[in-house]
Amino acid sequence: MLRRTLAAVFIPLAALAQSPTPAPQMAKPADADKTPASGPKISYSQCHVDGMQIAFTFDDGPHATNTPRLLDMLKERGIKATFYCVGQCVAEYPEIAKRIVDEGHEIASHSWSHPNLIPMSEANVRDQLERTHQVIKQATGVEPKTFRPPYGNFTQRQRNWANAMYGYKIALWDVDTLDWKHRNSARVEAVTLAETRAGSIILTHDIHKSTIDAMPATFDALLAKGFKFVTVSELIALDKPMLPKPKSTPEVAPKAAATKPTAAN
Ligand code: NI
Repeated sequence: MLRRTLAAVFIPLAALAQSPTPAPQMAKPADADKTPASGPKISYSQCHVDGMQIAFTFDDGPHATNTPRLLDMLKERGIKATFYCVGQCVAEYPEIAKRIVDEGHEIASHSWSHPNLIPMSEANVRDQLERTHQVIKQATGVEPKTFRPPYGNFTQRQRNWANAMYGYKIALWDVDTLDWKHRNSARVEAVTLAETRAGSIILTHDIHKSTIDAMPATFDALLAKGFKFVTVSELIALDKPMLPKPKSTPEVAPKAAATKPTAAN
């Protein structure tokens, strides 16, 4: 019943037909950490934290079988993740979206139909974000707090608008497993373990079986290294602004300074 209602309200065929062909995936958004000239920081590709916190993210779902399987793995280990869901998939699987929230994970917006948002009109971008915001709210009872643009493609102006309209922080990533491209479990595990640092945001996709197959070993290895799994919103809340590098003091001779190890290094 719920499914039929949501589909009727949220999938006008004309809107789907307008969706442009997906753009190629960017390796990493070039302006990921740019802070607008005024106002607080709204985009994050990683965070600066004191502890060992990381945010594991799963995009493009929910998926009928892979997402529930992943949720079982997370539950077994008592760890939290963030799901960047596509609105039309939430409309198709509202019960899985609800389970994500009920089990303590963060559910967040990844647009309605996964287009490249950059060339789209303001009205169409608004439509992509608004419908996804509402379908997540209806399916789960919570409103998304963060947004991940498909392919990381979102102009600064669009970021500012999304932040002003929904309070969204824009969540990008610093560890890109390229799982969608290689579909290789061993590679997903190896890249994640090699590149994850405290404060990392790890990008994977829960629509691929090969990714889910990699997760038990990947999770267990990260836990063994001492990493703490938190949601993206929790990680952003822990973010500390980078302090400016201390200027060298004229009293200290360059030779002495060079041989003396400092905390700054
Ligand atoms: Ni995506």
